[in-house]
Amino acid sequence: MGIQAPRGTNDILPEAAAKWQEVEQKMYDICRLYQYKEIRTPIFENTELFQRGVGDTTDIVQKEMYTFEDRGGRSITLRPEGTAPVVRSYVQHKLFGEPDQPVKLFYTGPMFRYERPQAGRMRQFVQFGVEAIGSKDPAIDAEVIALSMEIYRSAGLKSLRLVINSLGDTESRSAHKEALIKHFAPRIDEFCEDCQVRLEKNPLRILDCKKDRDHELMATAPSLADYLNEESKAYYDKVKAYLNILDIEFVEDANLVRGLDYYNHTAFEIMSDAEGFGAITTLAGGGRYNGLVEDLGGPESPGIGFAMSIERLLLALEMEKVQVGQQDTLGAYVIAMDESAKEQAVRTVKQLRKAGISADMDYTGRKLKAQMKSADRKQAAFVIIIGESELQSGKAALKEMATGEQMEVSFEEMAEAIQSKRQKEEK
Ligand code: HAM
Repeated sequence: MGIQAPRGTNDILPEAAAKWQEVEQKMYDICRLYQYKEIRTPIFENTELFQRGVGDTTDIVQKEMYTFEDRGGRSITLRPEGTAPVVRSYVQHKLFGEPDQPVKLFYTGPMFRYERPQAGRMRQFVQFGVEAIGSKDPAIDAEVIALSMEIYRSAGLKSLRLVINSLGDTESRSAHKEALIKHFAPRIDEFCEDCQVRLEKNPLRILDCKKDRDHELMATAPSLADYLNEESKAYYDKVKAYLNILDIEFVEDANLVRGLDYYNHTAFEIMSDAEGFGAITTLAGGGRYNGLVEDLGGPESPGIGFAMSIERLLLALEMEKVQVGQQDTLGAYVIAMDESAKEQAVRTVKQLRKAGISADMDYTGRKLKAQMKSADRKQAAFVIIIGESELQSGKAALKEMATGEQMEVSFEEMAEAIQSKRQKEEK
């Protein structure tokens, strides 16, 4: 066998691409309704951005990044996520100086994580995400969550579950951190090496550990919910109140922590409850990141956002048997009966396309019958047949495939004839 695509990557062939285009278009439409504007950032960044932005102790930074040295000796990383790059760009281009804050942005593009591939988990996947930077109003948290839910609903999904939690502010988190250290420290030598490092750097990550998850201290670990201060609780209550106003149903889960370090206050994930979805049921994740802009060198500009992979959205649509991706149908197929009719066929195709009618013809020298079959497969609305006698008379048969109706039309009037037939049908 020849060279294969690398493990964990996918080719998106035309039939699938039609589905991608349809769901992407829906996302753009919803972003317009909510007034989020597109931002495009590079696919690779300086490695330091993710170390500082996503966090040195996260699995993403420790185990999953595609990092390499470029020819100039710089450490470069293929972006594993979009938030840190967007925040970098917000700081670099001083978007914090824009009169209208928050700056509301969306992006789509490939992300890269060296993970173990399985259904819904890729090494290259496409994230769609939004970031609203420059506001700490709980109403914007609710807006971002509502936008994310609307995307799934408008795509046609029904079996969805929105899970929310509050990770609290810095004060709440450090009180919780201390409690975690007290809880784990006396018996930390019973835990894996990673957890021993985590205890010092970021004890919250111990709770995510796959190796030690059955250790008895895990179940009795102090919960962040018990350490939220009044301000954090009040913020969380307001987010929930706004979600209610927006008619967004949610469930709360105090164990929802998220795998990236920049979060505080609101955290949320959208899960699929569709049957047969497989082990990975998370469709999207996001949350608030007050402090990230400062960490990356900007002024205080609190933010919130979320991201989802389009692969998982399409997988969920498949599981819920929602049809997407109308195949494009052809306006007209032009058949040249022999070599002498080719030039006129090329001219007619050009003329139709100029008039905005999609047109195609044969480029492999096939006989009439094979060309007719092609026209059928492409679901051509019209077929135009050009042979020797047509060349002489300057007219060709225009056949409407749906009705079988056929009429003689001069070459010059071909496009108008198709358009007037179409208009009649629309009426
Ligand atoms: P995340 O939870 O790491 O968050 O990823 C968000 C989403 O990206 C996941 O829910 C999933 O749909 C998709 N995803 C992640 N890894 C893979 C993979 N290997 N294969 C397929 N899909 C994947 C973030 O990336 C944050 N930047 C989200 C955010 C934006 N938070 C605030 N703003």
